[in-house]
Amino acid sequence: LTIDWDIRQAERGGYAHFMLKEIMEQPDVWGDCLLGRTEGDRVVVEELGLTETQLEQVRRIQVVAAGTAYHAGLIGKALIERLARIPVDVAVASEFRYQDPVLQRGTLVMAVSQSGETADTLACINLARQQGMPTYALVNTVGSTIARESDAVVYTHAGPEIAVASTKAYTTQILVLTLLALALADVHGRPRPDLVRSLLTLPKMGADILAEMEHIEDMASRLSTNRDVFYIGRGLDYALAMEGQLKIKEIAYIHAEAYAAGELKHGTLALIEDGTPIVAIVTEDSVAEKSISNILEVKARGAEVWAIVDDRLKTRVPVDHLIPIRVPNALLAPALAALPLQMLAYWTAVKCGQDVDQPRNLAKSVTVE
Ligand code: G6P
Repeated sequence: LTIDWDIRQAERGGYAHFMLKEIMEQPDVWGDCLLGRTEGDRVVVEELGLTETQLEQVRRIQVVAAGTAYHAGLIGKALIERLARIPVDVAVASEFRYQDPVLQRGTLVMAVSQSGETADTLACINLARQQGMPTYALVNTVGSTIARESDAVVYTHAGPEIAVASTKAYTTQILVLTLLALALADVHGRPRPDLVRSLLTLPKMGADILAEMEHIEDMASRLSTNRDVFYIGRGLDYALAMEGQLKIKEIAYIHAEAYAAGELKHGTLALIEDGTPIVAIVTEDSVAEKSISNILEVKARGAEVWAIVDDRLKTRVPVDHLIPIRVPNALLAPALAALPLQMLAYWTAVKCGQDVDQPRNLAKSVTVE
């Protein structure tokens, strides 16, 4: 008896690609990320690398990040602003560093970075330090340069991420930003014990979503025949749409654009014709009606729609390819909704025959400009 031993295959834990392995690991990794960071229905502030006094002093947050981490920052902005009523700006690091930014007292400059080595993000942290601003790093790689150069650091505990396209690092960034938003909300007199409790249910809910993904391969097969695709959503769903479009560009090489659903009528609607593919995300209940009417508008023009929707809304969204997901609360939906977005991009890339883990022209960590 001989056994063919493929070391790469072994590292991938039996999965065809690291990306698929990393997608499937997410429920466990979320558990690791949340472990010990809540007590009862409160966030343990020290676990975020900050003190209550430091949190009390935050008047504004400036997030700097690149790529997928930038999209996590956009989710963080929405959560922190809505829960803690603290204004957050999110900047693309390669822009911020050259814009002579105005940084006011009371602003915490926060780098979000999987690798902790992205040159532009690091340059932003150095710039903030030169101006005497407090700096904070949300990174995955322990001991990385951005972690070392910042005044405080919080880790995502996602474990090594090998595939170039970020998946588990992104969703754990979202979880840590949610913890931060809840901690800030608490110290600023707006506690949300209900959300702290619900946050702990996400690993199980994520596992349930991943267990129900059997139709996604067929849906991706259909999507893979297109050269262009639009991603639409409102609010948090728009921020997710931006990450969805990046994923499919990165690994399937399909041109994709994210649009705020309400902005379609200011130009992009002119491009919608029979068969135009649209991926819509509808988890934000406060704007669901509006998003549904935008979907009806594109459907009326012949668009083919793939939709990731809150299970409670599924009968209301008349689309061609429906991906319902259960979410505990719209504010906790982003990490869950990211799962089918990642799977859709993954299977589309597989159907397109691309090198999923090592897309052309891209690097995992961009340490030079
Ligand atoms: C590269 C990677 C992306 C990542 C970005 C930022 O472009 O391919 O997946 O989002 O860098 O990387 P960072 O390590 O700072 O999160």
